Amino acid sequence: MSSSQKSLPEQSSPLALGPCAPLPRPTVVARLRAAGCVFAEDEAELLVSAARTPDELAVMVEQRVIGLPLEHVVGWAEFRGLRVAVDPGVFVPRRRTEFLVGRAVDLGRRAAKRTRRPTVAVDLCCGSGAVGAALAADLERVELYAADIEPAAVRCARRNVAATGGAVYQGDLFDPLPAALRGRIDILVANVPYVPSDEVGLLPPEARDHEPLVALDGGADGLDVLRRVTATAPRWLAPGGHLLVETSERQAPRAVEAFTRNGLLARVETSDELYATIVIGTRPDRRQEPSPGTP
Ligand SMILES: C[S@@+](CC[C@H](N)C(=O)[O-])C[C@H]1O[C@@H](n2cnc3c(N)ncnc32)[C@H](O)[C@@H]1O
Repeated sequence: MSSSQKSLPEQSSPLALGPCAPLPRPTVVARLRAAGCVFAEDEAELLVSAARTPDELAVMVEQRVIGLPLEHVVGWAEFRGLRVAVDPGVFVPRRRTEFLVGRAVDLGRRAAKRTRRPTVAVDLCCGSGAVGAALAADLERVELYAADIEPAAVRCARRNVAATGGAVYQGDLFDPLPAALRGRIDILVANVPYVPSDEVGLLPPEARDHEPLVALDGGADGLDVLRRVTATAPRWLAPGGHLLVETSERQAPRAVEAFTRNGLLARVETSDELYATIVIGTRPDRRQEPSPGTP
């Protein structure tokens, strides 16, 4: 038990039947382990410190035992050192996506140096807004926009992104973004759903049962949403601007084709440490190309 729990009055219990007896930590560990939690000790530590009352701890343990993602139980996820709110029914940001953000931050800083103005960054398919919040935290000067089709994600992202001064919109891909952003985006990050439809059923139950299908299912080969993004992105990117997406290793060559077909210069980058594959596409900046006949 944490000292904060001890100091709370018992009448704060929300249960009509009265307060529960405090669950001893070894009992929490044993319950979690029996339910198949691999990191039962660590999870118990987190639940014990997150719960404000013995009743709340009992509810949290129960939720975890029946398979809710830990992040939905405690209400937040750690992402690039930030504590990001994650509401029930919202995609839980994955650790591997930190690689995508790291590359976006590098490119965003370079863009700011080149243009001598704040980086214009968009977090498309933003979910909780973790990617946008992390970009805003690491880019010194940024104008941030985020969008998602799911109302629950948009509500959650507003909580995470509001503190950074960013704006969050609801709608299909680029539709809800302000028209004034066309041709101005330096960094466009789109962590689209990319699981092939017939592989969604193979995901761990935590994802399959507690994250919305629209956050996971990328169509027959997993690249439907990515293709739609690459088809429209060139009209929204600034000259020299970048589109960054995450894929699986297997999908990367087909993702590159989609980028190239739409006039973006594409390259694949990987992180063995985070088991991440990303594709970065750049809108050519014709102003920087030598004119024909220039030696
Ligand atoms: C894989 S999740 C990524 C969420 C977040 N960017 C992250 O990395 O944690 C994909 C997100 O795309 C959103 N999405 C799916 N289709 C969309 C569409 N057509 N327009 C906008 N958002 C969409 C889902 O609601 C979900 O939040």
